Amino acid sequence: MTNLRIEQANDDAMLQDWQYVHNLIIPTDALSLDEVRERAQRNRLEVAYLGDVLVGCSTVRPPTGGASTATVIARVLPDHRRQGLGEKLYERGLAQARALGAGEIETIVLASNVDGLRFAQTHGFVEVDSYLPPGDSVPFITLRLP
Ligand SMILES: CC(C)(COP(=O)(O)OP(=O)(O)OC[C@H]1O[C@@H](n2cnc3c(N)ncnc32)[C@H](O)[C@@H]1OP(=O)(O)O)[C@@H](O)C(=O)NCCC(=O)NCCS
Repeated sequence: MTNLRIEQANDDAMLQDWQYVHNLIIPTDALSLDEVRERAQRNRLEVAYLGDVLVGCSTVRPPTGGASTATVIARVLPDHRRQGLGEKLYERGLAQARALGAGEIETIVLASNVDGLRFAQTHGFVEVDSYLPPGDSVPFITLRLP
């Protein structure tokens, strides 16, 4: 995995790559490019490549409004899972969240993402909330690192 590159999405091409991974993995919350650009103002969005091949992305939402909770989400495309890429993205996001002053770490997983729920639980997260957006049939699960 020596040719793994994880970079902050700081131009439209990388934001489109981030969007592609996000929307494929979270089809019930597909984002437009404008929405992704807006998110990039608030959150750290990163994209992962193996060589030139897009393999995943991540989101680190820093603590806001005096709270100490940050959100870290790793996403790996299905064809590239179970090679340790998720671990690398997650550990990097966790370190960034801590550097941003996070005391508590949360992650959010679409309930149908069995791999994501298993990964979060394996990494010590416990479910604290569930949210079903109006009109959706699959809830989002919020999990927290105790
Ligand atoms: C969660 C997610 C990012 C994990 O990605 P991944 O690249 O498969 O993660 P890893 O490869 O690091 O670990 C997954 C499993 O593969 C195993 N693995 C890692 N390297 C391996 C290798 N070389 N050979 C075989 N298995 C391996 C890990 O031990 C782990 O096993 P486990 O499920 O029994 O604990 C991915 O499933 C995903 O994108 N899910 C949807 C998004 C999501 O819900 N994200 C929230 C989680 S923060």
